[in-house]
Amino acid sequence: MKGRVLRFSSFSAIILAASVAACADNSAGAKIFQREKCMDCHTMKGRGGAVGPNLTTVGARRNSAYIREQIRNPSSQNPNTAMPSFKDLSEQDMDKLVEYLSNRK
Ligand code: HEC
Repeated sequence: MKGRVLRFSSFSAIILAASVAACADNSAGAKIFQREKCMDCHTMKGRGGAVGPNLTTVGARRNSAYIREQIRNPSSQNPNTAMPSFKDLSEQDMDKLVEYLSNRK
């Protein structure tokens, strides 16, 4: 019995460590997402606002071209959009942000 309890708790510890690692996203794109305050309007992995769609799995429904256009020129996809344009982002930051979001599947 003792052995079984022990095995169970080390298994839980592995699961816990894996989920903490998955949440702690320190990629450049994730940092830009935070810096630009996208989460004022969008939820990412359970945190953020609800003005716009939840972006946790946005890469599963939108391709990178769509995501890039949405960030640069949101009114081209919806003339009445509440989302501001982020066209002043550098090309490099835009690439990292788009890559980050395209990989959210
Ligand atoms: C003021 C609120 C607001 C902010 C800030 C905002 N968005 Fe949005 N976003 C929206 C809304 C509303 C939509 C829904 C589509 C539309 O109406 O344009 C949207 C749509 C999107 C979509 C398309 C999602 C889909 O499923 O079609 C992406 C991608 C996106 N936003 C990324 C971003 C990123 C990246 C940032 C930060 C750089 C950001 N948004 C900041 C409001 C916002």
